[in-house]
Amino acid sequence: MKIAPWVLVIVPVVALLGILGAGGCVRASGRAEGTYFVAKVKPTLEYYCMECHNSKSASKFSHLNLETGKLAMSTGLHKPVILPRKPDDSLLYVVLRLGHAEALAMPPAPDKISGEQLASVRQWILDGAFWPEGPEGHLKSPR
Ligand code: HEC
Repeated sequence: MKIAPWVLVIVPVVALLGILGAGGCVRASGRAEGTYFVAKVKPTLEYYCMECHNSKSASKFSHLNLETGKLAMSTGLHKPVILPRKPDDSLLYVVLRLGHAEALAMPPAPDKISGEQLASVRQWILDGAFWPEGPEGHLKSPR
């Protein structure tokens, strides 16, 4: 069989565009590298969660320790509280959406995270919940 010359041009071009497109997406958003976590998720968790969900106090708060990604994935009475790519099944996200009438609403009253912060946490989990190691991924309470 003889291959038409245009096939030899079109196939590599389409393949190349695919590779560039996929790579471009990840790089532009930084979601796979942890820049998204550091910019959009870490500040929210630090401000609203670390006062309780840290190494010293976790035992009083469902044993959930959010200091590092490894701890976040391996602690809590209902671990794992984060299911990568499944925000609606992830307890860490589900509790953020509860009204304060519910005992499990997080952060506890009177704190409430904004719609934008909520959307960022959802997007981060949807993208695989990448949590960097080292100082970037180490959460501390600022208050
Ligand atoms: C003032 C302390 C406090 C803060 C701040 C706080 N929590 Fe909690 N958290 C608790 C308590 C208390 C419980 C147990 C509630 C219960 O069992 O009714 C809990 C339980 C949870 C659980 C259930 C864990 C499990 O495995 O059962 C999740 C998930 C959670 N918190 C997430 C968060 C997130 C995310 C934030 C920040 C947005 C946050 N919490 C902020 C006190 C806190």
